[in-house]
Amino acid sequence: MSPSKENDLDKTHKITYQTTLDSETTEIPDVMIDEVLRGNLRIAKFAGSKFPYLIPPTQYTEKLGWSLEPHSLQTNFVGNVNEPVHRWLGYVQGFSASFVREMHSILKSSIDSYVMDPFMGSGTVPLESMFQGYKSIGVEINPFLHFAAKTKIDALYHGNPDEIKKVEKRLLSDPLESIDAKNEIFLRRTLDHFDPQSLKFLLNIKENIERLDSDSITYRILKLAFLSILVDASQMTRAPCMGYPKKKKAVGEERTRNLFRQRIEMMIEDIVRFRKDDLPKKYAPKLFFDDAKTCNFNGLLASTVITSPPYVNGMDYVNNYKIELVWGDFAKSYPELKKLKNAMVACDNISRNSVKEKLLKYNDKMLEDIIDRIEKSIAERPVEYRRPDQPLIVTKYFNDLYEILENTTNHIESNGQLALVVGDSLIADVYVPTDLLLANACVNHLGFDLVRILKSRDRRSGQRTTFKLRETVAILRKQ
Ligand SMILES: C[S@@+](CC[C@H](N)C(=O)[O-])C[C@H]1O[C@@H](n2cnc3c(N)ncnc32)[C@H](O)[C@@H]1O
Repeated sequence: MSPSKENDLDKTHKITYQTTLDSETTEIPDVMIDEVLRGNLRIAKFAGSKFPYLIPPTQYTEKLGWSLEPHSLQTNFVGNVNEPVHRWLGYVQGFSASFVREMHSILKSSIDSYVMDPFMGSGTVPLESMFQGYKSIGVEINPFLHFAAKTKIDALYHGNPDEIKKVEKRLLSDPLESIDAKNEIFLRRTLDHFDPQSLKFLLNIKENIERLDSDSITYRILKLAFLSILVDASQMTRAPCMGYPKKKKAVGEERTRNLFRQRIEMMIEDIVRFRKDDLPKKYAPKLFFDDAKTCNFNGLLASTVITSPPYVNGMDYVNNYKIELVWGDFAKSYPELKKLKNAMVACDNISRNSVKEKLLKYNDKMLEDIIDRIEKSIAERPVEYRRPDQPLIVTKYFNDLYEILENTTNHIESNGQLALVVGDSLIADVYVPTDLLLANACVNHLGFDLVRILKSRDRRSGQRTTFKLRETVAILRKQ
């Protein structure tokens, strides 16, 4: 939260920051106010005594003897809205296709061997690599995202535009029946999620799609079109977390019908376009619905890995995509949603009391010190921290990532390259240079040399919005 107007006018007042996440209040000493008003809370924090466990970001780069090269890159999904096929499903946590193209040119990826993404999400890396003529591999643990990535690719090879149009026409011309939402969707707040007319339309379309042959590509294309419009057709927004906008959205049956129609039109347009292209000469990516910790990649080796894991204090991926997971029948109950959440790389959305790991699986004094600081910072708070088990969560996060990086490394050719896109974090007022820690684990334990670290963009802490964070792309080469 930024300083209030009153504070701007009268610099002699103390500035009070209230964070919604921490539900705690922190007073900044008077002497620091100038810096705070210049927007650089970091300086104030480092100099102040209220944040005794905070080590400035620069100290970590200095300690490691590494420097960050400013290199602005459009890593995030925004650029995909006009990119054929990538635009079929908005995935806020996804890469942009242009970033994948740029990485291929920076890495000079070899056209003869595989490009891999062990956290493929909606499949931007395998899909865009395929468009560029590379062979590719992708792994994803979220069944909805795996379904989306696979359907995009299969639709290009096997989708039949005439059949899709025919089935769509039939679905849309059927008279709407009254269907009890509670019998179809187990989520507790479905009636709040949708306006009654949109809900009736969506339940009918869902039922009609489910009557199609579930092995057919037409079924999967229509199901993806349907799932990809659900949030737009709902009363919610995903920006990037799911929530209700202040102003109620105007979505009724007509708008929902149009959203569905337009999405199908867009998909058909892209399928036709790629048919005309030299698609048969391109290699269809090999996609795995699996845990990247244990996936065996069918024994394939990659020469290039471009990937981005969840961030350490990142968002609740399952809660954020529960609408699609549930409406798509990928999760049939709350326990199933919870099971998926607990199988994913640990973030602070992981179920309470589910994290037991106290020890790091690899030796890293710098990380141990950071976890220790987080523990002390939490213990000294007057108000209980949102997640008292945060030190365990951070331990598990790095253990999970270590296991995945180790497994991935076993599937990289020697001399192969790994481009790791990660953001740093501020956890309980302790700075966590996740990017450097992961790159350091690769160098110290997994047999990589660090080639360079590109600073792709600035970010801000969700817990203290004036605290500047970054996102980097660490490029490493396997020895
Ligand atoms: C930052 S997103 C990657 C998005 C992707 N680059 C794209 O363009 O769509 C991280 C992904 O890692 C997935 N993930 C988390 N834990 C995983 C695991 N153990 N194995 C495989 N994927 C996992 C999440 O479901 C999420 O989709």
